[in-house]
Amino acid sequence: MERPRITVFDTTLRDGEQSPGCSMNVQEKLRMAQQLDRLGVDVIEAGFPIASDGDFEAVQAVAASIRRPVITGLARACTVDIERAWQALKNAARPRIHVFLATSDIHLKHKLRMSRQQCLEQARDAVRLAKSLCEDVEFSPEDATRTHTEFLCQVLEAVADAGATTLNIPDTVGFTMPAEFTELIQTIRRRVRGIEKLTISAHCHDDLGFAVANSLAAIAAGARQVECTVSGIGERAGNASLEEIVMAMRVRPDLYPYDTSVVSDRLYPTSQLLSEITGVAVQPNKAIIGRNAFAHEAGIHQDGVLKNPLTYEIMTPQSVGVPDSTLVLGKHSGRHALGLRCEQLGFQFERRELDEIYRRFVILADKIKTIQDHHLLELIRKTFEQMQRVPPAHVGEIPMVFAASASSGHSVSSAAYFSKPSALPLPVDPKIRDLPLNSKPDHHCEQEDYLWGV
Ligand code: KIV
Ligand code: ZN
Repeated sequence: MERPRITVFDTTLRDGEQSPGCSMNVQEKLRMAQQLDRLGVDVIEAGFPIASDGDFEAVQAVAASIRRPVITGLARACTVDIERAWQALKNAARPRIHVFLATSDIHLKHKLRMSRQQCLEQARDAVRLAKSLCEDVEFSPEDATRTHTEFLCQVLEAVADAGATTLNIPDTVGFTMPAEFTELIQTIRRRVRGIEKLTISAHCHDDLGFAVANSLAAIAAGARQVECTVSGIGERAGNASLEEIVMAMRVRPDLYPYDTSVVSDRLYPTSQLLSEITGVAVQPNKAIIGRNAFAHEAGIHQDGVLKNPLTYEIMTPQSVGVPDSTLVLGKHSGRHALGLRCEQLGFQFERRELDEIYRRFVILADKIKTIQDHHLLELIRKTFEQMQRVPPAHVGEIPMVFAASASSGHSVSSAAYFSKPSALPLPVDPKIRDLPLNSKPDHHCEQEDYLWGV
């Protein structure tokens, strides 16, 4: 049976850009839009044309050059915004005008100072105007999740009659919970006349950390468009993260049997490009795209991953475009990972040698937290120097499996290092020089790796 297709509406260039530090100029938006096109999103919200001349130009440039996806621009429910949006969008292959107006009593009373009736009429008139310019019109009742449900349904019905093709339900302030959002989408599907011919969309913010859960709840309840951003950037705590929504559907088709057109192995490169453009780094523990999302430091985990990645990874790093898993060498690491890294650096140690290296490694890791390749190379050299022996080096490959190698930049073959110990370019780290030589190596066994990090 064919699975329902979810339209991925990317608002990185509009709602995402509204997050502090993330604004982009025309060239930057264009570069990002090209990557979003390669990523396979269905709709690109390129900006808010009335906001500034720069944003107008950016929407215009994206509309003129990106031809496959629908290109949309945001407009408040008023003539000047809608006409400006249309001017920016009119050369797009597939233009859409996105009109919004707040509908909650809080917004009506304190922000817009209008009655529900005025709100309903303004929303309907605005959609009518947009429809006269563009076939594809989306309407968003801002703060929908705090809007009186009966009134929300009335507004949705009015804008549907006026020609809206997509009805977006924003959880503007990240207030709703998944079960509640499910119920709201179901109610809208039951109550709004003609809804079956339209697309229901979800637009969730992450103020309580539920943006992705709420988006998935909406999809399960019948929404067929989801609005999200790369790396989850957006106002305040951000928007629903595109990567998490897409991968939740890929990893759990038993619960979310839906398809998207997103090319998942472009997720990580897209997020990296966004960080490069904005200069805003992704939090290390961010799901899917964070630096630690496929990094393992605890010995128990490293041991499991080395035996079979399925033990601690629910998707392959390659499936989201991350080159490989990384094993971070720190105080929680086990001998299995240390031994493997030594081998990758070109050393095959006997058991007692590895015991000694490992003993010194743990002492050092306690002091400097993360052991980079150059630390390890130095530690090995000092250990053997103090034992008055030459390390059993051989030329070896250094795959990028260890975070240490990736970040240290020391991707030189260790054999070259150790064949001429006196020519070592690295200064001797005093923390390593002072490590005591162990006269009585203790007898670790395989089980001990398992205990590390528990
Ligand atoms: O969060 C929100 O309500 C919005 C609308 C403009 C769709 O971004
Ligand atoms: Zn928003």
